[in-house]
Amino acid sequence: MNGLDVGIDQLGVYLPRYALPLDRLAEARGVPVEKIHVGLGAHAMAVVPPWEDAVTLGANAAARVFRHGEVRPDEIGLLVAATETAVDHAKPIGIFLHDLLGLSPSCRTFEVKHACYGGTAGIMLAADWIRSGAARGRKALVVATDIARYDVGSSAEFTQGAGAAAVVVSDEPRLLRLGPTTGLFSRNVYDFWRPLERREALVDGKFSLDCYLDALHGAVSDYRAALNGHGGGSLLDRFAAFLYHTPFPKMAHKAHRRLVEDESHGLTPAAVGERFERSWATQAEPALGLARQAGNTYTASLYLCLAWLLEREGATLEGRDLALFSYGSGCCAEFFTGRPVAGSAARAASIGAQGLLQARRELTVEEYEQFARATTGGERPAEGGVGFCHLAGIENHKRHYACPGKVA
Ligand code: CAA
Repeated sequence: MNGLDVGIDQLGVYLPRYALPLDRLAEARGVPVEKIHVGLGAHAMAVVPPWEDAVTLGANAAARVFRHGEVRPDEIGLLVAATETAVDHAKPIGIFLHDLLGLSPSCRTFEVKHACYGGTAGIMLAADWIRSGAARGRKALVVATDIARYDVGSSAEFTQGAGAAAVVVSDEPRLLRLGPTTGLFSRNVYDFWRPLERREALVDGKFSLDCYLDALHGAVSDYRAALNGHGGGSLLDRFAAFLYHTPFPKMAHKAHRRLVEDESHGLTPAAVGERFERSWATQAEPALGLARQAGNTYTASLYLCLAWLLEREGATLEGRDLALFSYGSGCCAEFFTGRPVAGSAARAASIGAQGLLQARRELTVEEYEQFARATTGGERPAEGGVGFCHLAGIENHKRHYACPGKVA
């Protein structure tokens, strides 16, 4: 096996069936709508109903990678569930997924956490598992699944969301080959956290933006150092697209601006501004269509951006390098690269991200607040969901899931 061939074989995405248009929330909270549409770049957020949780979001995303039969559940030898919306302090989300998806008993299964970085941590670990030879020809499934919840009425309320991405990692990737070099940055900061007893996250909003941007600078510097003189020149010329962890689209805008500034030493401010506007429109903004409509999906965010970009622009990206930046508060960040493989565009076109947006029902603010207050479980309305399984209830502290349509 050539270690350089490891990458993403399949990508499944999932969003809950409900969305809250943010102009409705802005009106209800007495906030100018331009602050949300322009200031945050956000238009709607996915809202999770009481009969979905991080398990069902993740299972529904993963079911979509198995539905065409190109990957079989019995090929998975490693299942990593990445989340910061765990449902139990001990029992990992991964074991529920293992059961719901019908994976083989001969499978290492666990949950990882480092805020929004967890999905990338899982993918890097899976790639190393394959490169090490321990995989013995099997594939890894990394499921990044989350519900972003802040206090109702807080300024962070506009940056909520929910969704999941399921990433199959293999040594014969049919979507995206991962580059061998990555850049890392870790530092202990209190920018965003969720104490064990709380359902809603706490955040030092403005500080979190600074931490994100410092981590980007640090991770890119480390990437350059790891290249050790090979592959110099401007990153803007090297990469066809830049994808960012996107808590809200304006964050990606700030991040790309910072990256362009760091890449533009010696240019006048006006020239830097022009360079940024050109690069933003063609190399970064096209990945954000789903994030504008789904909000923050924490661990899944970067991979929903990737899914959106590949689904819509895969044909022009085959064989060209993409740059990806993953940020997890607290904090750990990684800058890494990937190249869509020949023939990937046709597969990417059927990821189905656009269809998930179209299948959603818009909520009123009152309905959203009811969902936000509700405890998990309970009856689903007749309109049901868009996935194959849901949370049927919690009895004696045990969660029960129903799967009207079994996978595979
Ligand atoms: N028209 C247009 N723009 C307007 C406006 C108007 N009427 N009023 C305000 N704005 C602009 C502001 O100028 C500002 O833009 P800039 O940052 O470019 O200056 C933007 O709208 C937001 O305004 P504020 O900073 O006043 O907004 P806020 O106090 O409501 O806080 C927030 C915004 C800090 C992002 C808050 O929503 C929050 O805390 N969100 C959660 C934290 C978060 O997502 N942090 C991201 C980095 S951490 C991370 O990435 C991990 C993670 O997933 C959580």
